[in-house]
Amino acid sequence: MPDSDLQLDESGKLRHFLSIEGLNQAILSEILDTADSFTSVTDRTIKKVPILRGKTVANLFFEASTRTRSTFELAAQRLSADILSLNVDTSATVKGESLLDTLQNLEAMQIDMFVIRHQDSGSAHFFAQHVRPGVAVLNAGDGQHAHPTQAMLDMYTIRHHKHDFTRLRVAIVGDILHSRVARSQIHALNLLNTAEVRIVAPRTLIPVDAEALGVRVFEDLEAGLEDVDVVIMLRLQRERMRGALLPSEKEYFRRFGLSQERLARARPDAIVMHPGPANRGVEIESSVMDGSQSVILQQVSFGIAVRMAVMSMIVGQSGLQAGGDA
Ligand code: NCD
Repeated sequence: MPDSDLQLDESGKLRHFLSIEGLNQAILSEILDTADSFTSVTDRTIKKVPILRGKTVANLFFEASTRTRSTFELAAQRLSADILSLNVDTSATVKGESLLDTLQNLEAMQIDMFVIRHQDSGSAHFFAQHVRPGVAVLNAGDGQHAHPTQAMLDMYTIRHHKHDFTRLRVAIVGDILHSRVARSQIHALNLLNTAEVRIVAPRTLIPVDAEALGVRVFEDLEAGLEDVDVVIMLRLQRERMRGALLPSEKEYFRRFGLSQERLARARPDAIVMHPGPANRGVEIESSVMDGSQSVILQQVSFGIAVRMAVMSMIVGQSGLQAGGDA
């Protein structure tokens, strides 16, 4: 079943959040607008609203994560949910339990929402196909496939600084081939009618279907950065590389590392983003990461509001009016 059939109900409301593919511009804009209403919640002293009161959210992380896991947890807490956080490391698989058995055992604990990160592409989709009606699945990153809440927090950050997607040039730089983040970002940027989406990478890290994704491909960083409004840097995902796709890290930095000097090719008011974890001195120079154009830490903060938005839309509430104050 395509993601669109699983993700949206008959009236077009969000049921699961598995990938940007299969969604539409209206849903993406609703997520961004709903997140706006939650940034005020995250800024105030009492940070809770009762939108998920009485619901239980299970955070299932089969892969390591810092930012995504903790911001999902905080988002669920700020919506007043009960939270079960499981670090399902490889031992679960070693013990031989199948994903379906894990799911069924957790369902027996009356979970209302699953947040799942898994090393296999398609695992969130698999979960969504097997949960009981009324139980929601949110994809927190599946293999090389998708990471839709990351893409939406990135869209939120871009909109916060740049407002109008239709006038923007965005460059995504680095290991596109292995990046679920890049895939989700490209789909989201296209759905939001971004004027130009570029990917910049060595040939070995460009997906074969790149042009079909609706992007301009650059193998030269300086050319790829020329006049862009937004630069998104990605880490080399070595854990997913098979064989020697790259020269040394030093050589990679020499050709594809974002230095102050190279950033000067972009527009003077360009913002620099990175989903993390970032490797200083490999894909990005320390001074750029900490520099005035970097919005990398803001991305992390916005991640909470955006995840709150997606969760509350799934339970049928878009923003604070519907939920009331705690
Ligand atoms: C990304 C991920 O896990 O896909 N990180 C994140 O969620 N913040 C990117 C990465 O691992 O490089």
